[in-house]
Amino acid sequence: MEKRRIVATSALPYANGDIHLGHLVEYLQTDFWTRFQKMRGHDCLYICADDTHGTPVMIRARDEGRTPEEVIESAHAAHSRDFAGFEIGFDNYYTTNSPENKAFCEEIFAAMEKSGAVTVRNVPQFYCDKCGMFLPDRYVKGVCPKCGAEGQYGDNCDKCGATYAAEELKSPYCAKCGGTPALRDAEQLFFELEPYRDFLSKWLPAHTSKSIANKLSEWFGEPLRGWCISRAAPYFGFPIPGHPGRFFYVWVDAPVGYLASLKNWCTAHGQDFKDWWADPKTERYHFIGKDIIRFHCLFWPAMLESAGFATPDKVFVHGFLTVNGEKMSKTKGTFVNARTYLEHLPAWALRYYYACKLGPGEEDMDMNLDDFVQRVNSDLVGKITNLASRGAQMLNKHLGGRLGTLDDEGRALADAARGRAEAIAAHYEARRFSHIPAEVAAIADAANKYFDEKQPWKTVKDPAKAEETRTVLTAVMNVFRIMAIYLKPVLPSYAQKAAALFKEDAWTWSDLEKTAEAREIGPYEYLATRIDPAQVKAMTEAATQKPADTGEVAHESRASKNKAARRAAAAEGAAVPPPAKPEIAFEDFEKPDLRVATVLECKEVPKSQKLLEFRLDCGPLGERTVFSGIRQAYPDPSALKERQVLFVANLPPRKMSVGVSEGMILFAGTPGKDGGVLSPSSPAAPGTPAT
Ligand code: 2FM
Ligand code: ZN
Repeated sequence: MEKRRIVATSALPYANGDIHLGHLVEYLQTDFWTRFQKMRGHDCLYICADDTHGTPVMIRARDEGRTPEEVIESAHAAHSRDFAGFEIGFDNYYTTNSPENKAFCEEIFAAMEKSGAVTVRNVPQFYCDKCGMFLPDRYVKGVCPKCGAEGQYGDNCDKCGATYAAEELKSPYCAKCGGTPALRDAEQLFFELEPYRDFLSKWLPAHTSKSIANKLSEWFGEPLRGWCISRAAPYFGFPIPGHPGRFFYVWVDAPVGYLASLKNWCTAHGQDFKDWWADPKTERYHFIGKDIIRFHCLFWPAMLESAGFATPDKVFVHGFLTVNGEKMSKTKGTFVNARTYLEHLPAWALRYYYACKLGPGEEDMDMNLDDFVQRVNSDLVGKITNLASRGAQMLNKHLGGRLGTLDDEGRALADAARGRAEAIAAHYEARRFSHIPAEVAAIADAANKYFDEKQPWKTVKDPAKAEETRTVLTAVMNVFRIMAIYLKPVLPSYAQKAAALFKEDAWTWSDLEKTAEAREIGPYEYLATRIDPAQVKAMTEAATQKPADTGEVAHESRASKNKAARRAAAAEGAAVPPPAKPEIAFEDFEKPDLRVATVLECKEVPKSQKLLEFRLDCGPLGERTVFSGIRQAYPDPSALKERQVLFVANLPPRKMSVGVSEGMILFAGTPGKDGGVLSPSSPAAPGTPAT
């Protein structure tokens, strides 16, 4: 088999949101596929990054009193942690806010401009005289043109879900100052697609599925519309060289982020980027959802073509996740974040279940929660894993932990299992993932039948039948070994523990050819045990949000009005009223250990606009370092020296990008506006409890 060089990507998740089970449909299938390619001995990279630019991150940063860089940094940490929790084996997980990405964007844009495909057009856009700026969609509010709901943003309506252009809003106002904006012509840059008509109409059928190519062919009935690739300042993104006040639209630099992340990997590994992208022998694949095909199958290949870059070999498109047959819902607790899932259930269970459900097509994939528990318990645990746990435990307990040799019957059983290797490999290659657990379950059925006929749990107790039993268990263990190798791309840590049970190194596909005979096995370590429907229930309960918090309800409730008021207030730079919090039990109030501390030192944290670093004398609790986001309240932090403050002493140490924070200082008010740290009104010894 010739060694292939393969680069695969998953769509870059937005930095302004959490990873949820819907995202994982994509990250898991790409992970299964790339792990399979690696097991087959190919040079394969799984490349991804955070998609960091655009208005939402900018607005969120402002609302939270942080810089966009701080927002995307914490998102990167949270995303990385969630992906690691699900054993997603990226070779590089980077960011679009990187020097490599900026350089590629500039290079590609220069080529696009040179090719004549970039035009300047006047686009009417809302301009606020008071604020002196063009308003991005999320800065304009007004009455929804479809349903008449008030206070809607300029891109879509919270209430009826309609999407529209900001100019269509009725009674528009500036979300920042409340003033009435006027439409003004703004010069924007467009990438003209019509010159790429021939290229794209040939490219599409060869690089996407028939149905996607068909769907996109609708665009070709009329002249291809140009694509607006610039946004006016203020915008969190890369400035467009030669076009002051204009930034690359986030959807320009997002796919370029694939190249940038790959380049970043190449630099770190002493590799030549050209070998990994331009080389005609390299295979390039994007895994994406069906909602973003326009960007990946029209704009992106045209951009690459215009700049003389290689285009992807295939764009693999998948559908959305439904849960219990419906769209994921926050009120039903079926919109589950990766983190919430991991707090209640093991990653391997979801990996296995998604493999059972995933195919190569664009249909939506349903996760039925009862079926999830049932498949994991009956197949992965009951049929497959039990063979290993019973077999290994009998061998270890009664037969000195040693495998024997296979007899004809055992060899035939193992050979039959091994005989599925090419079929299973073909399923992986073609992303027919659901066939794999089905194939493995059929192998397990045969092995269980053999196990039940031979009844080793009975014979193992008869010393005269020890060798006979060893032979049976050797067959069972060999079949299990083959199944675990087949499942390795889906269940990497499971397979790693299974390999350790056989005292073998990390398995590759060629390990299927070997048999495990006449040698010792290791102790049996837990591989997978039954999951309990109660865990699923606890997860959906934890994920359930009251209708008021979700934006899913048709009627504007008090809480959603509150949310809108908070947003509006935040947009105006006013103090943001905190949301009312639910009542707590008295015992909850007693939980924080509030103490007095004396500030030994207080200083700015380099590069952070928000944080101050405190060194606190906490009396009997010793000295502590605390980072607090109140810098705006104290232009001269040294003024806090020797002040007494109240702080929470029993929080777990929190690792931040700037260091470890060992508590939290109490502050009343809005940093930068009013208020300050809380202090006892007369001096108290450091460490004194506050009640
Ligand atoms: O739809 C999304 O979530 C985008 N953040 C995907 C970007 S994919 C690529 F183009 F970067
Ligand atoms: Zn304004």
